[in-house]
Amino acid sequence: MLWEGLLVKLSKWMVLLTVLLLSVALVAAGCGGGDKAGDQKAAEGEKVITIGFIGPLTGDVKTFGESTKNAFLLALEERNYKVGDFTIKTVTADDRNDATEAVNVATKLITQDKVQAIIGSVTSKCTIPISEVANGNGVVMVTPTATNPAVTVADGKLKEYAFRACFIDPFQGTVAAKFALDELKAKKAAILFDQGNDYTIGLKDFFTEAFTKGGGQVLATEAYTDKDTDFSAVLTNIAKLDIDVLYLPDYYQKVSLIGKQAREKGIKAVFLGGDGWDSSELDFAAMEGGYFTNHYSPEDPRPEVQEWVKKYEAKYGAKPDALATLAYDATLILLKGIEDANSSDPAKIKDAIKALQNFQTVSGSITYDENNNPVKSAAILQIKDGKQVFVKSVNP
Ligand code: PHE
Repeated sequence: MLWEGLLVKLSKWMVLLTVLLLSVALVAAGCGGGDKAGDQKAAEGEKVITIGFIGPLTGDVKTFGESTKNAFLLALEERNYKVGDFTIKTVTADDRNDATEAVNVATKLITQDKVQAIIGSVTSKCTIPISEVANGNGVVMVTPTATNPAVTVADGKLKEYAFRACFIDPFQGTVAAKFALDELKAKKAAILFDQGNDYTIGLKDFFTEAFTKGGGQVLATEAYTDKDTDFSAVLTNIAKLDIDVLYLPDYYQKVSLIGKQAREKGIKAVFLGGDGWDSSELDFAAMEGGYFTNHYSPEDPRPEVQEWVKKYEAKYGAKPDALATLAYDATLILLKGIEDANSSDPAKIKDAIKALQNFQTVSGSITYDENNNPVKSAAILQIKDGKQVFVKSVNP
């Protein structure tokens, strides 16, 4: 009675204030900012493991974030968010493909949401700093796609909690260089790269090393920044050189711009690139005829690939790109680690992941080397008639 009376007397302002204070308290308790599954409260006595997902859900590579998140959720959904005795909760975060934001969201997931493991992020430039935060806090991290070596090793020292589901760029750059030399019979190349992006810097170096070792010559190596949109000065100079291939190791938006402008300058060289080209938003007309190295092809006839393609297509209405496939695989790796460890202790989960032997995933079989990298094959794809076409697979 007294309560009712009091309630009636509460002014609109008081109610608002209460709601506000309550929300602040909830956020402080770590219940805010997550997705639906992450927001669910654990039932009494339930054994829970919380997995954070980080990807670029907005920004210049947002198709990467969308694909990886779709596949991450699909892998969990298939298992009903259960692994052994554990119920899996999730919290998702957007790093916008910005390294500072990546550190912010990783820190929030670890300190506020108390995740035991992180799937993510996608790009090397975000994942390298995230791996420092995760490893420093003893939280397991499995990146689906970040290919730069520094994700798992810094100054020669292994980050024990950091793993990946993909091959690394020394291999990817070498595959591209060998393909240029042996299949395209290229002798002279030019490279454009983003001087502020670890991924493109790495591929530029690894490609150059392998291409020159194999007898090729790199006639021009030109740097740009991620803000640049007009490449005409550099391309005018490159057009004067007699090059066979133009290596463009960047993400789909940037290479589409460069490719288009290169053709406008009369550059006839074959375009060559890396996994960063893999997007439905690549400018297929501008990049026609170009080749790129990737992690898998949906045309691969292996039954595990075809089954996966069907499953993903049924749910999301599009073929899974390499990002989706690797995110599915990364999630399987983590879940297997949890299952084998039969524990929510990140130290035990990381030991179980490290111990995996020939664990079968869609994109290949996983056994970790001393640097927490799996040894896997690459696929070479071509942009042909406005589509991605599988050319060949290359073993390590
Ligand atoms: N390998 C890229 C990086 O490290 C990310 C990427 C992977 C992009 C696969 C597209 C496809 O930044």
